[in-house]
Amino acid sequence: METLEVRLPDCTYNIWLGEGILSLAGDLLLKAGLGRTLALVTNPAVAALYAAPLEASLQAAGFAVRRVTIADGEQYKTLATVDDLYSRFLAAGLERGSAVVALGGGVVGDTAGFAAATYMRGIPFVQVPTTLLAQVDSSVGGKVAVDHARAKNLVGAFHQPRAVIIDTAVLRTLLPQHLRCGLAEIVKHGVLGSPALFEHLERHGAEPMDRVVREALAVKIRVVQQDPEERGVRAILNLGHTTGHAVEAVTSYRVPHGDGVAIGMVAATHMALALGLCAPDVLPRLLALLGRFGLPTSVEADPNAIYEAMFADKKKKEGRLRFILPQAIGSVIISDQVPEEVVRLALARITTQDISKEVPI
Ligand SMILES: NC(=O)c1ccc[n+]([C@@H]2O[C@H](COP(=O)([O-])OP(=O)(O)OC[C@H]3O[C@@H](n4cnc5c(N)ncnc54)[C@H](O)[C@@H]3O)[C@@H](O)[C@H]2O)c1
Repeated sequence: METLEVRLPDCTYNIWLGEGILSLAGDLLLKAGLGRTLALVTNPAVAALYAAPLEASLQAAGFAVRRVTIADGEQYKTLATVDDLYSRFLAAGLERGSAVVALGGGVVGDTAGFAAATYMRGIPFVQVPTTLLAQVDSSVGGKVAVDHARAKNLVGAFHQPRAVIIDTAVLRTLLPQHLRCGLAEIVKHGVLGSPALFEHLERHGAEPMDRVVREALAVKIRVVQQDPEERGVRAILNLGHTTGHAVEAVTSYRVPHGDGVAIGMVAATHMALALGLCAPDVLPRLLALLGRFGLPTSVEADPNAIYEAMFADKKKKEGRLRFILPQAIGSVIISDQVPEEVVRLALARITTQDISKEVPI
């Protein structure tokens, strides 16, 4: 097992990482100095696989654990679910000294984290992420949120976890599409901050998984430590997301998030190349690596529709689109100044038209 530390101005917490460490959770959380009453928030699918061993470990260490399940799926990442959680926390006797343990992917982590951030003005919470995306990204950094009917992650807070327990053995039960989503974020972390991680992925793929998770996490930790509340540099973690979200939206979410991020990173690289900002090896290496992981690099869609959809995204600043542009593998810049024709050129490069739908001349 390895211990990584997240050091922030107001708090420091540990990330414990290893294969099969779920059974050590009780002893690890004793070290985190939590109160004795815990609400274990999870969903039915994850609970069936991992709640029992986690509960057994927590109970053996002396914690009183009350399991609380929420429905599975992004559509339940809402204030209504949070409201239900408050009721269940009250019924479980959760007080300010108690804690919430989130066992699941990013949806459980974000929802349970937001409930913990707001219940009784904030109680401690612990992340036990079970998807690759949650392990390398959403469980660390303290961003917690739920969706609003009109915007994703609109209602949220910064609430850092007291500890993060990452057992890479749980990734074996993930469906391939959920694994791919995490791989897209890992490639993103390589492009924005770690040439060594990117090279490792090129040479060895995503193996060994615990090493790849550790290296990807190291990038996230470094960025979060520099800018805990996203006032500046933390925005680089949105590499590929402005275009990615727009691609997801115009395809009515048939393109999943990880695929959107992959396509968005390719678009950002085309923009950086057009602006003369990007080393020539970035695009071919990125295309090859995404292809190796079965991630798409283009989408069958209307580039004009993608362009319009970008303006619905809340990451634009005062009407300007913001892009994270690769300069080299491991280095990016933030720009609010990409000219419209450069954006449109990049969108033309990442879109294909369905010729079967074209009217023959
Ligand atoms: N807070 C942040 O900083 C941050 C960052 C990135 C993404 N997010 C959020 O994360 C969410 C996406 O998270 P996700 O990709 O983990 O999706 P998810 O939480 O929906 O999990 C995907 C599916 O995998 C299942 N699952 C989870 N662990 C499993 C396991 N070990 N074995 C088998 N099945 C398992 C879940 O039940 C679910 O059906 C989005 O809501 C996004 O907004 C948050």
